[in-house]
Amino acid sequence: LAEDGSAGWLRYARLEQSAIAALSKDLPAEVETLDTSPVVLSARSEAQKGISSMLGRTLQAAEVADANGALVLGTVAEVQQRFPSWKPGAAPQAEGYILRTIKSHGHSYILVAGADPNGVLYGTFRLLEKIAEGQDLARLNDVESPAAPIRWVDQWDNSNGTIERGYSGRSIFFDNGTVRPDLARAGEYARLLASVGINGADVNNVNADLKMLSPEMIKQVARIADQFRPWGVRLALSVDVSSPKVVGGLDTFDPLDPKVIAWWQKAVDDVYAAIPDFAGFTVKADSEGRAGPAQYGRTPMDAANVLARALKPHGGVLLYRAFVYNHHADWKDPKADRARAAYNIFHSLDGKFDDNVIVQIKNGPIDFQVREPASPLFAGLPKTNVSIEVQATQEYTGQQRHLVFLIPMWKQVLDLDMRAENRSTPVKEIVEGKSFHRPLGGFVAVANVGLDTNWLHHPLAMANLYGFGRLAWNPDTSSETIARDWTRLTFGNNAKVVDTVSAMLLSSWPLYEDYTGPLGLGTLTNILGPHYGPGIESAERNGWGQWLRADHDGIGMDRTVATGTGYIGQYPPELAAVYESLKTCPDELLLFMHHVAYTYKLHDASPYNGETVVQWVYDSHYKGAAGAAKLVEQWKSLDGLVDQERYAQVLALQEYQAGHAIVWRDAVNSWFHKMSGVDDAQGRVDHF
Ligand code: GCU
Repeated sequence: LAEDGSAGWLRYARLEQSAIAALSKDLPAEVETLDTSPVVLSARSEAQKGISSMLGRTLQAAEVADANGALVLGTVAEVQQRFPSWKPGAAPQAEGYILRTIKSHGHSYILVAGADPNGVLYGTFRLLEKIAEGQDLARLNDVESPAAPIRWVDQWDNSNGTIERGYSGRSIFFDNGTVRPDLARAGEYARLLASVGINGADVNNVNADLKMLSPEMIKQVARIADQFRPWGVRLALSVDVSSPKVVGGLDTFDPLDPKVIAWWQKAVDDVYAAIPDFAGFTVKADSEGRAGPAQYGRTPMDAANVLARALKPHGGVLLYRAFVYNHHADWKDPKADRARAAYNIFHSLDGKFDDNVIVQIKNGPIDFQVREPASPLFAGLPKTNVSIEVQATQEYTGQQRHLVFLIPMWKQVLDLDMRAENRSTPVKEIVEGKSFHRPLGGFVAVANVGLDTNWLHHPLAMANLYGFGRLAWNPDTSSETIARDWTRLTFGNNAKVVDTVSAMLLSSWPLYEDYTGPLGLGTLTNILGPHYGPGIESAERNGWGQWLRADHDGIGMDRTVATGTGYIGQYPPELAAVYESLKTCPDELLLFMHHVAYTYKLHDASPYNGETVVQWVYDSHYKGAAGAAKLVEQWKSLDGLVDQERYAQVLALQEYQAGHAIVWRDAVNSWFHKMSGVDDAQGRVDHF
């Protein structure tokens, strides 16, 4: 088995002899598929592959198994027909499954009964995961259903083969202006995605290539969909709303112009002729230089509904991104505030979007910083379908050269109770569609895997992609569970390896925050350049609106209703009250919400213990850099317990990160020292 990381978490490493013996007694020798759909056949071949690899046993495919037991794969209805006395009990929802062991004539039958073929596939992967973890197969009794229908990844791939914010090599889909001849990696990617329940993938950059909808390109892209289909992953595309004019040769792209409406209808029909299970479009418009409906005095709703109506008869959806803002904002205006943009633009359109439109909202109101509050828009669209967009590719979080396990960061947003309508409305329940009874909604991650053998460059970064899938399936899953499960699948069941790697993962986001942007300031990276490494001043005095508002007396954006930009007033009243008051605003978001003096004292409780803002900055940066150094030691303790190839790769990256954390520490601390004129109480920052 390759240990180069190409298998991701689907290594199916050979188990210990004792585990093989324990599992084998309950594992039948045959697999029976009750359905011949390509997705169920993938489930069968995956079961055969996994079991042979982990247990060294051949699972024979049988049309009808003999009477000695079998692994049975089919839909709930098919399994019931096969075993008329079997009572499934609570039925799984769409794409869900039942895993059950039953005895018939003294023999074990392991049933994987899906609500549909995707459910069968997801149940099979779950069974294989249980086998990898050495769990008891004698009494399987699980019923699982996904939290929401939209569980997608986005790739920001360009047709020339580059990837916007990709850090792991070139595109697995495109090269040289078209789709690559060899799409083997696309199929392998879909398999990885399916193994954690992801059912859609948008394959091209949100800053969409205008040629994407040309007949030749659609023909080519259909080849990617062919690779995805056996894994139940539907292909989606990003499109530019100016296409009717720029590609179609019309004299306008005004979404309300009948010619434009007709153009979209034809374009969509052509896509479905080539890709019958096409998932839909993602749209970025009126944002960062992209064309949009604003040019004609139209709203996002006007544009979204036109595209959605073309998609609707085919069962497609339209994901319209709420990442719309003016990147030429007036930094001299104390009331200007980029964080307000999405709510300002979309809230008044609530209830006006068609039912196959989903407004896709980034987790925070700015742009994937190391910490942001949840976007207030999650609570601002109760009559609209919404999805959350997170970023697994680590644009602002170390670009896969730093270890940053993002699951706890995403969870802190998903778990936040927005208190819409003065009741419990956590973000996760809003995007699941539960809070406001929406038919659609879900989870999207910008993944940006590339041709690097191990997909995401840092061998431990795959935990983010895996974890995204787990959260999209069930956002109540804990970070600890995800960290441990991923580690076991990726590195095996050795207790020390599992404990150490999961501890490294779980400590990594807090310590990255400690040595980069503290107290809600944003990452403090170079926002005008590569978004990598310290670049504190780059945020100030330009149109991008990521201002720190720092001077010699104080720092932070005043976003209060009372004296600031009023952003806080976009939250439902109970939550707004928490952020508005310095007494209750959590310190980790202090400088996002308020402007305070450097000597302002943080809360008395741990971990802040009444420290001043500036002393906290100094201390947390030393703490973070020390934490990065500790990651090296933790990893070294696994020498000999992890294969040499991945051991050496991770070691090199952790040593690099430890050094770069010192660069970060010193850059940020010296900047604060200069700006504030306040000395470090422990005398460490003096030499700057
Ligand atoms: C970030 C990122 C861009 C991307 C944009 C988006 O700003 O740096 O590369 O296009 O987000 O999400 O649209």
